[in-house]
Amino acid sequence: MDRLVIEGGARLSGEVAVSGAKNAALPLMCAGLLAGEPLALANVPRLQDVATMARLLAEMGVRIERDGSRMVLDCAAIERPEAPYERVKTMRASILTLGPLLARCGEARVSLPGGCAIGARPIDQHLKGLLAMGAELRVEHGTIQARARRLRGARILTDLVTVTGTENLMMAATLAEGETVIENAAREPEVADLAACLNAMGAHVSGAGTDVVRIRGVERLHAAEHRIMPDRIEAGTLLCAAAITGGEVRLTAAAPGDLDAVIDKLMDAGCEIAGERHAIRLRAPARLAAVSLRTAPYPGFPTDMQAQFMALDAVAEGTGVVRETIFENRYMHAQELQRLGADIRIDGNTAVVRGVARLQGAVVMATDLRASACLVLAGLVAHGETTVDRIYHLDRGYERVEEKLSQLGARIRRVH
Ligand code: EPU
Repeated sequence: MDRLVIEGGARLSGEVAVSGAKNAALPLMCAGLLAGEPLALANVPRLQDVATMARLLAEMGVRIERDGSRMVLDCAAIERPEAPYERVKTMRASILTLGPLLARCGEARVSLPGGCAIGARPIDQHLKGLLAMGAELRVEHGTIQARARRLRGARILTDLVTVTGTENLMMAATLAEGETVIENAAREPEVADLAACLNAMGAHVSGAGTDVVRIRGVERLHAAEHRIMPDRIEAGTLLCAAAITGGEVRLTAAAPGDLDAVIDKLMDAGCEIAGERHAIRLRAPARLAAVSLRTAPYPGFPTDMQAQFMALDAVAEGTGVVRETIFENRYMHAQELQRLGADIRIDGNTAVVRGVARLQGAVVMATDLRASACLVLAGLVAHGETTVDRIYHLDRGYERVEEKLSQLGARIRRVH
């Protein structure tokens, strides 16, 4: 198993490019299932989750060609409309095949994802929406068995804001008969990116990026090309890496407008930030000021950046109060940060982080993707050597993370 070894203390500086967004790429690949003609995606990141999704789709009969960051999915024939447990258990985003398969094939078998390292993560809202659209759903032996001759447009009010739930229902509705309205829809930029691609395929989706999305169903979708949006969470993580080391960086191929909540907090922490059209510059102070934050659906502060900010607060001047409102168990990194010398008290969904003057390197490991990123950030400033174990979590969602950080001057290497 690979690990990352980091020698802390190097101030990051320079320029690095942001990759395509994981959480846009995964639903976009599933959108390919909706059409009998090819979908060409550009700016596809090289990530383990993208490889897992490609494998899952290939097992269904999808032909996939990959050339650098371009991927062409040919879904002319879907032989097996199913997502088995072996795939779903390694990647929850496999649930995103349910809506498209049902809409295109009239049937789907998708294993129920269980709980995961950050929370219970039920999918009841995905199922509620599909039921409203006339699907017959049964859960047998841990698998959702779904059928529908043709889905019908419906008004769906979700009980809570769900990103993949909104995406699943939006995709299913593109081929339904009549109009679907999703209220309380997720406003994440990845939802809008998916809608743009669906529209390029001939769908009629409006309102994506707001909390009411309307989809007028069509008979079929056609071939299209789409460029995947920049990864706002990777960008935020790289900004945090520069901030925690007192550094100065410029991120290219980025979308600053998607990062308002993160940029606000970095400015509160004392960083100077300038947004360009497709780039972001950050200059950090010698020592950051602690910031308090509360995670919320977009445009609020993203839960996927909570762990990274806890690393910043761990070494900042003052005390930061972090409230996680999206997932009930997303503080697994706090204990590992404590092993590096951080002063963190957790009470329910609140973490009180008192900044310390210095962290000390140690061997740490993480149980999920963003927690691993938090530990890498801590390792960049910890005194001495930090080894981050189980980095397969990082490889799921960060493209060549050690190369990008080395390019900025970090002393980081991967060991097998
Ligand atoms: N929820 C329900 N019922 C549902 C759906 C969600 O109770 O039917 C709850 C969840 O348990 C959670 C909250 O609603 O407490 C929000 O969950 P959501 O469905 O929005 O999360 P998701 O769609 O499963 C996506 C990202 C996550 C990101 C969250 C929140 C993808 C593939 N995943 O997950 O990304 O944290 O939205 O923004 O888009 C990551 O990249 O590290 C990651 C975990």
